[in-house]
Amino acid sequence: MSAEKIDGKAYATALRGRIAEAVSSLPGQPTLAVVIVGDDPASHVYVKNKIKFTKETGMRSVEHKLAADVDEETLVKIVRELNNDESVDGILVQLPLPKHLNENRVIEEIHPDKDVDGLTETSAGRLSLGKAGLRPCTPTGSVMLAKDALGDLTGKNCVILGRSILVGKPAAMLFLEQNCTVTIAHSRTQNLDDVCRGADILVAAVGRPQMVKADWLKKGACVIDVGINRVPHPEKPGKTYLVGDVDYKPSLETAGSITPVPGGVGPMTIACLLRNTVIAACMRRGWDTPDNLSF
Ligand code: GUN
Repeated sequence: MSAEKIDGKAYATALRGRIAEAVSSLPGQPTLAVVIVGDDPASHVYVKNKIKFTKETGMRSVEHKLAADVDEETLVKIVRELNNDESVDGILVQLPLPKHLNENRVIEEIHPDKDVDGLTETSAGRLSLGKAGLRPCTPTGSVMLAKDALGDLTGKNCVILGRSILVGKPAAMLFLEQNCTVTIAHSRTQNLDDVCRGADILVAAVGRPQMVKADWLKKGACVIDVGINRVPHPEKPGKTYLVGDVDYKPSLETAGSITPVPGGVGPMTIACLLRNTVIAACMRRGWDTPDNLSF
């Protein structure tokens, strides 16, 4: 038996289509502001794609590019101006920030109603209290793909491997919201392989290349691999390639469905960011949220 490949790239493309349709039905144009500090090439690639897809879905994009040595007060001032700018619906500060800047402080400056990354304390609090709010993008994309593969998730055993504030913890809350029985496991969990074998849905988000082995999976499990790890290529000296946190090829024989890396959860992050921008615009401006954005 070979597992079904969960095509996150195709799902994200279709979701962007739904977002574009939703945007065209709104009484105004949502705007996403992106702030990027410094010259990190990977961050610039991410931001370029965020801007491209913002425009492609019919929204307005505003970009602030700041020098690597910008001081914290200048950055905070820009975030506050964006908070006060009536035309701006979502604010994203690309991470990581250079070391001299206090990431937590800068994120906390973002108004929760414009926190399209879902990273502020208010957004985290709303999620844990089950209140309406903006949800973190990668965990939301993970739930969407699991639902796409399995349908209703009620009663499923979901093991989240990883406890980061960006993915693991919010993913646990979001799968709980789907009526899953959720276990959060991590690098210090005893008998980690056995814990994983209990999972109907395994979300791997530890950032360790190919750590989850095929025989850690329950037969037929749905595997959501959030890891993106660049490693040396085994056959091409000097070259690198991307792998997830799951040993993908052998796992095709055990899993029922599995996300590839790349092309799985990755493309969902930007699509969910765009979705959040539309939701933020609707909530703040008192528009009805288009119902084609639910999942
Ligand atoms: N850097 C890498 N991924 C992300 C993300 O989802 N949001 C932000 N703000 N920065 C990132």
